[in-house]
Amino acid sequence: MLDPKDREATGARLLSSSARNSYDPEIDIDWDAPLAEGKAYLPLHRVSLYGTEIWERLTPEQRIELSKHEIGSVASVGLWFEIVLIQLLARYVYDKDPRTAHAQYALTEIGDETRHIVMFAKAIERFGLPRYGPPRVVHELARAFKAVSGGASMFASVLVAEEITDRLQRSMMDAEDIQPLIRMVNRIHVVEEARHVRYAREELVRLMPTLGKAKLELHRLVTAVVGFAIVDSLIDPNVYKSIGIDPAEGRRAALRNPHHQATRLWMGEKITEFLGDVGMIGGRSTKIWRRAHLLP
Ligand SMILES: [Fe+2]
Ligand SMILES: [Fe+2]
Repeated sequence: MLDPKDREATGARLLSSSARNSYDPEIDIDWDAPLAEGKAYLPLHRVSLYGTEIWERLTPEQRIELSKHEIGSVASVGLWFEIVLIQLLARYVYDKDPRTAHAQYALTEIGDETRHIVMFAKAIERFGLPRYGPPRVVHELARAFKAVSGGASMFASVLVAEEITDRLQRSMMDAEDIQPLIRMVNRIHVVEEARHVRYAREELVRLMPTLGKAKLELHRLVTAVVGFAIVDSLIDPNVYKSIGIDPAEGRRAALRNPHHQATRLWMGEKITEFLGDVGMIGGRSTKIWRRAHLLP
């Protein structure tokens, strides 16, 4: 388990690390570089239909095409959540003393996320992909979530979103058989997200002991529901149109696919272990994590 340092010490360290090691996607990525022929956009065994009957019928080109649409969907949903996060952080810092390193780091993180959103959006545009996103109902419910959410479940929900995508991105950043542009985007994101994860994890460890029994159950429930919504939204069913498969049929096959269920579990492994350790997973809402395939 994590030993939370003094808030100010952590804030100061994260600010100095940000000053030394931050990226500007406009400058640090060559957007005009040609795409690599025959390279996948997502490791093929992480594609939602991998191993299904539909998958067996696809040509190698169609498999790569689907990997492109799925990474586009993950990036679209990721950047949508980053917009939510910007509002959460802006509301969080509203009451904080701007002279503190803790507040200044929250503001710095807003800056990071702004650049990430533009980076993901440019990648989606570069690949010629449609605008994917979470289901309409999730999009609308998030409007309320980002306006009212706060405290332990806010940090825990943010960690679920950041850490499940981080797991996927880390696994790809050094993979030779993945598109170089994707690898570069992942590398930039992994470096900057490591600081966000540190900030949110420490804050969560500080907040957990302040929750009474009823509040703990409420924050557990909110985190489980938001975690479920995020992981379940990552693959927009419209991606299946790219290989001529009806969206509802593709989604049904993915949800039943043991490989896809294992991928969800693998993506959630690190964050669910942490949330279990700090007590944010437990009680009645544990079954929601299981239904989301984030716990076995
Ligand atoms: Fe980000
Ligand atoms: Fe982040």
